Amino acid sequence: MSKGKCILAYSGGMDSTISVVWIKEKYDLDVITLTVDLGAGPEIEGVKEKAKQAGAVEAIVLDVKEEFVTEYIFPALKAGAMYENVYALSTALARPLMAKKLVETARKFGAGYVSHGCTGKGNDQVRFDSSIKTLSGNGESIEIIAPAREWGMTRDEEKEYAKKAGLELREIGKNQRVYSIDRNLWGLAIEGEDLEDTWAEPPEDAFSWTNSLDKTPDKPEIIDIQFREGMPISINGKNMSGVKLIEFLNNLAGKHGIGRVDHLENRLVGIKSREVYETPAAVVLYNSIIALETATLSREQQRIKSFLSQNYSDLVYDGRWFTMLRENIQTFMNSVQQFSTGDIKLKLYKGSCNVIGRKSKFSLYDYDMSTYSSTDSFNHSSAVGFIDIYSLPSRIQAKKQKFNDL
Ligand code: ARG
Repeated sequence: MSKGKCILAYSGGMDSTISVVWIKEKYDLDVITLTVDLGAGPEIEGVKEKAKQAGAVEAIVLDVKEEFVTEYIFPALKAGAMYENVYALSTALARPLMAKKLVETARKFGAGYVSHGCTGKGNDQVRFDSSIKTLSGNGESIEIIAPAREWGMTRDEEKEYAKKAGLELREIGKNQRVYSIDRNLWGLAIEGEDLEDTWAEPPEDAFSWTNSLDKTPDKPEIIDIQFREGMPISINGKNMSGVKLIEFLNNLAGKHGIGRVDHLENRLVGIKSREVYETPAAVVLYNSIIALETATLSREQQRIKSFLSQNYSDLVYDGRWFTMLRENIQTFMNSVQQFSTGDIKLKLYKGSCNVIGRKSKFSLYDYDMSTYSSTDSFNHSSAVGFIDIYSLPSRIQAKKQKFNDL
């Protein structure tokens, strides 16, 4: 009888390479590795060879960058998704897509198992497991194996497995910090090492996409981003695919030191953790879309949107991407963005990106209404009647109830 199969989400890193051997031994399964290219690394070069060398029967690499942008990043951008107002959810948005690819690949190969490298302490296990279970929940049986959550290995056992996987264990220099990093097109998440002391400033070697302020250009740079229905389509008049546009902004804004985030974060599993992020493009685009909305949305639309943005961000963070509620809110967000078409002008300089101009053919800003100049067309005299009725309830209540020392 042929052995069962397991589709393993594979980054090419040490833990995931060890997992190939571990799953084969502990579960007696054929391992097929699946490397999902979400942009910006991890290095996918040589990843197939590495997987095969560790004993994988097949190694698949999928480029999902375009799908990541159009189906996950841009919908989240339209929804103003910023967890706790600072985290652009780069890792959190990638997990449901990875889970989807694991399930699709399991179906394609008739595999009864899928596997991911999450530990038992973070948010990512919840995002993977919930998404996998939801997507395969219709009578299918796909079991989840999470080696790093299950194995409880000592350093020596790890070394032994690494040897079996054909890995040379890197001897890490005494002064070299080894952060835990997750990286994709939408951002870079850095954890561990000195960052675990919440009082210590993040060391410069924690960062790789953004310049420190003393290394940023001394001249500001002004850019113009064009949006159509809440999605960025071009920069300085040059059309770009979503992937290219994000890459371009990561580079440019990173050069100006924009997008460094230092956050003490509420994890879903109940602990607080120090998280450092580099999300240059996300910060620029988020600020831009919010600025565009100040022109194209009514005050009430802005308020409801901002309220729902927080719910939406929590859903994404909490691994509830594949839920009806997330889709319901998405529908509202798509609808609210239908007139977010226009230009935002920004000044990038020394770590900040300031909006210095906005225009849209749908802008609700009416010059003649707002101006203090002679073209003013606002009806000043009707303000008197408006205020009379507007203040009526408070005046009556003040008279009858004499509150507030009246
Ligand atoms: N705290 C973030 C999140 O839960 C990022 C986790 C990324 N993992 C890492 N190894 N740095 O989405």
